[in-house]
Amino acid sequence: MNARSVVLKRRPVGAPVEDDFAIVETPIPHPGPGEVVTRTLFLSIDPYMRGRLSESKSYAKPVAIGEVMTGESVGEVVESADPAFSRGDLVVGSRGWQTHSLSRAEALVKLPPHGPPPSTYLGVLGMPGTTAYSGMTDIGQPKAGETVVITAASGAVGSVAGQLAKRAGARVVGVAGGPEKCLWVQETLGFDACVDHRAYDVPAELAAACPDGIDVYFENVGGLVQLAAFPMLNAFARVVMCGMVAQYNEPNPPPGPNLGIINRMRIRVQGMIVSDRPERFAEWRGLATPWVLDGSLVYREDVVDGLEAAPGALIGILGGRNFGKLLVRIA
Ligand SMILES: NC(=O)c1ccc[n+]([C@@H]2O[C@H](COP(=O)([O-])OP(=O)(O)OC[C@H]3O[C@@H](n4cnc5c(N)ncnc54)[C@H](OP(=O)(O)O)[C@@H]3O)[C@@H](O)[C@H]2O)c1
Repeated sequence: MNARSVVLKRRPVGAPVEDDFAIVETPIPHPGPGEVVTRTLFLSIDPYMRGRLSESKSYAKPVAIGEVMTGESVGEVVESADPAFSRGDLVVGSRGWQTHSLSRAEALVKLPPHGPPPSTYLGVLGMPGTTAYSGMTDIGQPKAGETVVITAASGAVGSVAGQLAKRAGARVVGVAGGPEKCLWVQETLGFDACVDHRAYDVPAELAAACPDGIDVYFENVGGLVQLAAFPMLNAFARVVMCGMVAQYNEPNPPPGPNLGIINRMRIRVQGMIVSDRPERFAEWRGLATPWVLDGSLVYREDVVDGLEAAPGALIGILGGRNFGKLLVRIA
C-alpha cells in the first residue's frame, strides 16, 4: 500500500476548482531518529487554506506548486523512532492533506486515550476553538449586558465565540446563511437572535436584532454584513478582525465601510492570527475539555469521506456549503 497526498497543481484565480489539485502516490515513509509516521484519521478543512493557494502577501507562505496541501489533522502513530510516541498513540498536528505523514516528534501533540472524540481536536478543542477563545479573551472582552454580534455564527469559530460571549452574560446575535443554520444557532447554541445574511434587507434585520447597537463585533465574514454592522458600533466597541471569508475568492475585494466611525466612537479594531498566542492552544484545551465532556459547550461537525473529497470540501466551505466544523474522514 502507498501513501496518497493532495498536491496543488496550479494557482486558482477566483474560486478554486477541483482540477487545481492532484492526488499523488508515494511509498509510506519510515521514521529516522526523532521522527514519527502516522496514518491520518481526520483532516481539517479551513477557510485560511484559500490564502495558501495564492502568492499575495500574507502572514504565512503559500503552498508551492506540486507541494502537499497544508493543514491540521488527527492521526494514529504507525511507526515511531522517538521515545515519546508509541504505535497506536493518537496525535494532532500540522500534517497536510495526506493519508500518511512523517513528522518530527516535537511537532505533534499526543491526545489523551480516554478523552473527547479525536475529531474535536481539529474543531471545538483545536485551532478554530482556540481562535474563538483568543479573539474573545484578548480583544472582544464581552461584558454582561453588552450586545455581541458573531458572523459565520454556525461555523467552527463562530459557534464557540458566541457561546463564550453567552457565558460572559452578553446578549449574543449571530449572523448565518439560511434559515436552517439560523434556527440551530438560536435553538441549539442558545444565541438570543440570528440574522440570515441571505435575507432581503440585512441592515434592517441586524438593526432590529440589535436595538442597543453593537459592543463587540466578531468578524469572520466581511462583505455586506460588515457594511451593515460598522455603522451600528457603539462608543468603545471592540472589533475582532478574525477573518473575511466573503472575499477570499475575490481577486479585487470590494471597498469596506467608512472608518470615520472608529475615531468618533473610539472603537478598537484589532486583527488576530491564532498562532500569535501559541500558549492559548493548551490553555483552551484545558478549559474547554470538561465543557465538551459535560455537553455544556455545543459543537457540530460536518464530515465528508475520503482524501479525494478534500478539494471539493475546501471549495464548498468558501461558499458556505458546510454546516459546522468541516472534516474529511480518511480512515
Ligand atoms: N485569525 C485566525 O487566526 C483565524 C483562525 C481560524 C479561522 N479564521 C477565520 O474565521 C472565519 C470562520 O472560520 P471557520 O473555520 O469557523 O469556518 P466556518 O465558519 O465553519 O465556515 C465558513 C463560513 O463562512 C460563511 N461564508 C462563506 N462565504 C460567505 C459570504 N460570502 N458571506 C457571508 N458568509 C460567508 C459560511 O457560513 P454561512 O452559510 O453562515 O454564511 C461558511 O460556512 C473565517 O474567516 C476564517 O478565515 C481565522
